[in-house]
Amino acid sequence: METVVITGATSGFGVNWLYQMDESKQCCFFVLGRDESKFKRLISDKPLKNDVHFIHCRLDSFSSIDSAVKEIQTKAFKVDILVNNAGVWSSDEIAFSQDDIEMTLAVNHLAPFVLTGKLLPLLLKAEKASIVNTASFRHKDASPSTHDIQLMERYSSEKAYCNSKLYSILFTQKLASLLHNTQISVNCFDPGIVDTEMLKKAFPKTLAFIYPLFRKVIARTPEKGAQTGVFLSQPNSKTGNYYKDCQPKKVSKLANSKALSDWLWGESEKLSEFSYPTFTANDRTTKP
Ligand SMILES: NC(=O)c1ccc[n+]([C@@H]2O[C@H](COP(=O)([O-])OP(=O)(O)OC[C@H]3O[C@@H](n4cnc5c(N)ncnc54)[C@H](OP(=O)(O)O)[C@@H]3O)[C@@H](O)[C@H]2O)c1
Repeated sequence: METVVITGATSGFGVNWLYQMDESKQCCFFVLGRDESKFKRLISDKPLKNDVHFIHCRLDSFSSIDSAVKEIQTKAFKVDILVNNAGVWSSDEIAFSQDDIEMTLAVNHLAPFVLTGKLLPLLLKAEKASIVNTASFRHKDASPSTHDIQLMERYSSEKAYCNSKLYSILFTQKLASLLHNTQISVNCFDPGIVDTEMLKKAFPKTLAFIYPLFRKVIARTPEKGAQTGVFLSQPNSKTGNYYKDCQPKKVSKLANSKALSDWLWGESEKLSEFSYPTFTANDRTTKP
């Protein structure tokens, strides 16, 4: 029986992702979220057929992530699939996480960085494991400043979001190379423009009058938005890639920069005060 850990399944297309995996797998879900009653309401009409453990986890708090991982460790001896789907389009005014880090960077990048690192020992215990990170086509609009990762000098919610999605790709590639000796694959994807709460928040306020039409004509349904994520949530021989519509796609020039990815890794370790252990070929044979 597979163990699946998923974030961002309390809203948007993450819920559809969960239902689509529920249809095709015999597994046990660990849903990490900040509002259990919201999650229970979401699934009340159509209960999941697999077991679900709701684990309280605020992704804007490193101590909350740490507690969530400890709780998973008491209930599971391995993790087969880790889905880092949660994300935020933050407020127009700069906001900060519980750890005093710019909110978008904290939730969209540092949370997956820490959660994944802390779950690696359990991922290594699976026969074959997959990590899936939700990125976005908006990574192409990123413009990171290496002296100001938190955008303290010139913040905008859009810039913070686009940068964070570039970081999802850089993180995926670097992690894939660190794990190349193991049985873990790590990939990311662009779900397209999906009709969710986030889309509404991200939509330019000056064009709000056309949002209902845009949503109906241009945006994908949450079912469709989840499809590539579901496709990647199975044992994968490919690793370190960016997908759209279940096909590998090219990324921007910045997303291919080794120097940028090394810089990001160093900044992520500093800000989160968490360092990845090094894994060797022997780790892949570790069995529960
Ligand atoms: N919609 C699009 O067009 C689009 C396009 C490209 C990429 N994406 C990416 O797709 C992913 C899912 O987005 P969506 O459109 O489905 O958005 P959504 O409906 O706003 O859902 C976001 C999810 O992230 C969770 N989350 C946010 N902040 C959190 C925190 N501090 N702690 C714990 N959980 C937190 C939310 O939990 P709550 O339910 O508690 O709020 C929710 O489950 C995101 O990574 C997003 O960047 C979306």
